[in-house]
Amino acid sequence: MNEEENMLFPVGMENSLSTYREDFVRENLMSDSFLDFVEENTKPIDQLFAYYQCAIMEVETKFRVLDESLSVELERNPIESIKSRVKSVDSLLRKMRKKNVALNLAAIEENINDVAGVRVICSFPDDIYEIASAFLAQDDITLIARKDYIKDPKPSGYRSLHLIVEVPIFLKDEKRNMKVEVQFRTIAMDFWASLEHKLHYKHDLPPERAKALADELRDCAERIEELDLRMQAVRNECHE
Ligand code: GTP
Ligand code: MG
Repeated sequence: MNEEENMLFPVGMENSLSTYREDFVRENLMSDSFLDFVEENTKPIDQLFAYYQCAIMEVETKFRVLDESLSVELERNPIESIKSRVKSVDSLLRKMRKKNVALNLAAIEENINDVAGVRVICSFPDDIYEIASAFLAQDDITLIARKDYIKDPKPSGYRSLHLIVEVPIFLKDEKRNMKVEVQFRTIAMDFWASLEHKLHYKHDLPPERAKALADELRDCAERIEELDLRMQAVRNECHE
């Protein structure tokens, strides 16, 4: 507590305040009726998150199958790794606030495209396009949006191929189409994106330092692009 607050709540008052707060939480937020309310209302949310998790499983399997089947032809695995996540509740709420999305589950499904996210890390840039087009050619995958930040990098230097797709999941007595965001990148682009992402959380940097780091990262991104293409050229020669 700062001095001003200390004047409002003189010595001794601090303790009784925290007791009051704890009593309030126990009697209200931990009451049977409130906890019943939470249980009842969080079930549909848990259900929706489970559907997104199912969609991730479907999409991941498709990429594992593509990797396995292409590995025979290529004599190597085009997919280095796959990372998936369902968006955390706090980050979902932040995005709903930012995009002014109505506070209901249908609006989330309609407006938030990245509740389910799958990241496919490939060895070489041309693997990205081969895997992405084989994935999109599957008759149960519907393309909603495609953004090629490899051909047109973001001003930050960010490079990846993004697809928003719809994939069906088969439940006990219904079939549901779920949206999934798929990001394709090379190992080097992924390395870059993880480091650059950390910069977003450094709010305490003086502006000139922040700009210098952003410039440095943009330069690194360009070198990474060059490196990826050189490695691909070496691979091609090895294969001849
Ligand atoms: P959001 O950025 O998610 O609000 O939606 P959007 O429609 O603008 O999508 P966009 O394609 O720009 O980005 C979606 C995701 O790509 C982000 O959530 C990040 O995971 C990633 N991404 C986009 N731009 C950058 C970037 O400059 N740096 C890093 N590290 N990741 C980025
Ligand atoms: Mg964005």
